[in-house]
Amino acid sequence: MTVNGRSLTILVLIGWHRCLKEELISGGRLQCVYHGWCFNGSGDCKFIPQAPPDGPPVHTFKKACVAAYPTTVQNDIVWFWPNSSPEYKDILSSKKPPYIAELDDPSYIKTMGNREFPFGYEILIENLVDPAHVPYAHFKLLPGPPAKNRVKLDREGGAPIDITINKLDIEGFHASRFGGITNFMAPCVYKSAFSLPSKKGNEPQRRGLLLFFCVPVGPGKSRLIYTFPRNFGVWLDRIMPRWVFHLSQNRILDSDLYLLHLEERKIMEVGPTNWQKACFVPTKSDAQVVAFRRWLKTYSGGQINWGGKFSGALPPTPPKEQLMDRYRSHVVNCSSCSLAYKSLNAVEVALQVISFGSIGVVAATKQSAMSAAARTSLVLMAVLCFAASRWLAHFIYKNFHFHDYDHALL
Ligand SMILES: *[C@@H]1O[C@H](CO)[C@@H](O)[C@H](O)[C@H]1NC(C)=O
Ligand SMILES: *[C@@H]1O[C@H](CO)[C@@H](O)[C@H](O)[C@H]1NC(C)=O
Repeated sequence: MTVNGRSLTILVLIGWHRCLKEELISGGRLQCVYHGWCFNGSGDCKFIPQAPPDGPPVHTFKKACVAAYPTTVQNDIVWFWPNSSPEYKDILSSKKPPYIAELDDPSYIKTMGNREFPFGYEILIENLVDPAHVPYAHFKLLPGPPAKNRVKLDREGGAPIDITINKLDIEGFHASRFGGITNFMAPCVYKSAFSLPSKKGNEPQRRGLLLFFCVPVGPGKSRLIYTFPRNFGVWLDRIMPRWVFHLSQNRILDSDLYLLHLEERKIMEVGPTNWQKACFVPTKSDAQVVAFRRWLKTYSGGQINWGGKFSGALPPTPPKEQLMDRYRSHVVNCSSCSLAYKSLNAVEVALQVISFGSIGVVAATKQSAMSAAARTSLVLMAVLCFAASRWLAHFIYKNFHFHDYDHALL
């Protein structure tokens, strides 16, 4: 958004209780975090704190206003149309974002997660539509194929995957594979539906979705919002805190993050529209990857149009610890994980205080004033608390900062 030619990207929606203008009170206000100017939902400036109340009404000038983008909330996600020209003002009445009925169905649980990645949107989609990598890249983290299909010497047990693309057009594609139906709802949603037989005769069929929202952030950068709605085993998500779910998901996402980061660089070497020169995709298990690239080529010239904002050059590769850093790419903006992070750090400090405190008490108390048994238990407590604090520090680092995944060592 621009104000007086300055580019401001962060606007915060804050409460209306301190609003000075009558007409803002009903609808809240959007305030620029830089100088506190307030706007209404159409981008009109409603209040400039620096303007004297008895001076000219400078806030009514066109130059004081900001662009307003068409927005809507659907499935608990804020969507916006990234073009503020007047012709798109009512675009959302004719062109709705993809709607996922299961997300609004109260019989489904829908714990969500998100993660930012050091590789682009194209690589992210390719990865999500490619089931063949799962037993290898996520070895031991996700269930592999049934043991009877395994080829001797192939410990992970990959097998032919028969995928058929049923329809491909500007809206994306539909595909089917062993009974499951998948749908790429272009440009950013990928949905894979599955069903399991019900456990008892009178129960409804067990159904679930793997649902991914893929956001292009910039060249070499993307963001994923994921959720796996299902209508069975819902109690688990009701009792398990969200951050515990995120721990295991981040572990899975980390296990091929580095590979994907490198893969993108290989593809860029030959140019994104020449991706076949860098990749050989001879089996039907790659059908969705090929379909996605075909869709991208047909409807977007084989790459993302960044509107002249970026040269298209990929950002440099930082050290692995920074590349895979979970804190900045997830924890900091996740309310559940950041609360867990703060609480676990506080417990770590408390354990250290108890540990050093107990040693202090033992050291400061005269031999005669304390029994040998009490002394021993205090020392033991100090050692145990210290060990627990070290273990916890390791746990925090591994789960909230960096956890490498070395395929060769598993
Ligand atoms: C914002 O203010 C302008 C000018 O007063 C008004 O025409 C418009 O309807 C307002 N928009 C909203 C969403 O309140
Ligand atoms: C975290 O939120 C800030 C704005 O509040 C945003 O700029 C940043 O990209 C977000 N990071 C992630 C990983 O979502």
